[in-house]
Amino acid sequence: MPEAMKEAMVVDLRSDTVTRPTEAMRQAMARAEVGDDVYDEDPTVIELERLAAGLTGKEAGLFVPSGSMANLIAQMVHADRGSEVVLGEASHAVLHEVGAGAAIAGVQYSIIPGDGRFTAGQVRKRIKAPTFHTPGTSLIWVENTHNMGGGTIFPTAEIKAIAEVAHEAGLPLHMDGARVFNAVVAGGEALRDVVREVDSLSFCLSKGLGAPAGSVLVGTREFRTRAHRLRKMLGGGMRQIGILAAAGIYALEHHVERLADDHRRARRLADELRRLPGISIDADAVQTNIVMADLHGADAADLARRCAERGVLFHALSRRRLRLVTHLDVDDAAIHRALGVISEVLGGGG
Ligand SMILES: Cc1ncc(COP(=O)(O)O)c(C=O)c1O
Repeated sequence: MPEAMKEAMVVDLRSDTVTRPTEAMRQAMARAEVGDDVYDEDPTVIELERLAAGLTGKEAGLFVPSGSMANLIAQMVHADRGSEVVLGEASHAVLHEVGAGAAIAGVQYSIIPGDGRFTAGQVRKRIKAPTFHTPGTSLIWVENTHNMGGGTIFPTAEIKAIAEVAHEAGLPLHMDGARVFNAVVAGGEALRDVVREVDSLSFCLSKGLGAPAGSVLVGTREFRTRAHRLRKMLGGGMRQIGILAAAGIYALEHHVERLADDHRRARRLADELRRLPGISIDADAVQTNIVMADLHGADAADLARRCAERGVLFHALSRRRLRLVTHLDVDDAAIHRALGVISEVLGGGG
């Protein structure tokens, strides 16, 4: 079978980052006007940053290469070296950014145990003033949706309560909103309302929105000025990137509403997987495009490997836990195929 046909048959549920730009997105990229973005002179980047600021109701946006760099810059702007950031234990910044907060921003984490959602009361208990012996708190951090929590939505009312606690203590609140559009579409709230109380946030264009790269950091004009300088320091100044910004604009204009299809497919995947023997899924936790499934007995890595041999890819997160993510490049037929392969392999047919 030709390689291209084999590739077309692969169902890749490892992450929503694996999408490829659509033909229409590629055309928008090819048409983009460009300039030198390090000089803030790329018209398409400027348009994207204005669009992001307008959608979030914040003063200014900054296009950055990745969600990880956005997170690092946010910590560097808001938090003093040697201070503490309060956040959930399974946050992307804690688990999957190679320790950048400690290594580069010079912060330590005060982590709240649990699935990534926490309360204002839990935050209040962790806030501390610096003393001669101890670090003080400099930043409060929420992740919405929460990746390792299984794409769960951080309730807007709780974000508001957390913001009150943070602001009373004179601290900023940042949202890692890598997948905030999933939260917005699933929760039926306006983006501006979801992020109204946060001082800054970032969202990724390269996940459910289907662009090939990039995130936008938004906040006050002063936040942007400092973030812009730090982006350069970290090597994230990228010149004629209007071609990437054009993909981001296209994604914001055409790929937000369709996230509902990814959510519907994730729900179908969850509903059908949990009927299989040896798998359990917390149905309430499947709120957006991520499904966490727990195996009883079978080894997750072994199942992932055997399914991959049959063209169905997903991650084994631990010995018993799988993560499956729906996205733009997974249609109903692909979900059907994935379910068939997983059921066959689990049932001993593979
Ligand atoms: C919640 C969250 N924040 C940040 C990131 C980092 O994004 P990037 O891969 O663009 O660095 C991810 C990536 O999966 C994520 O899930």
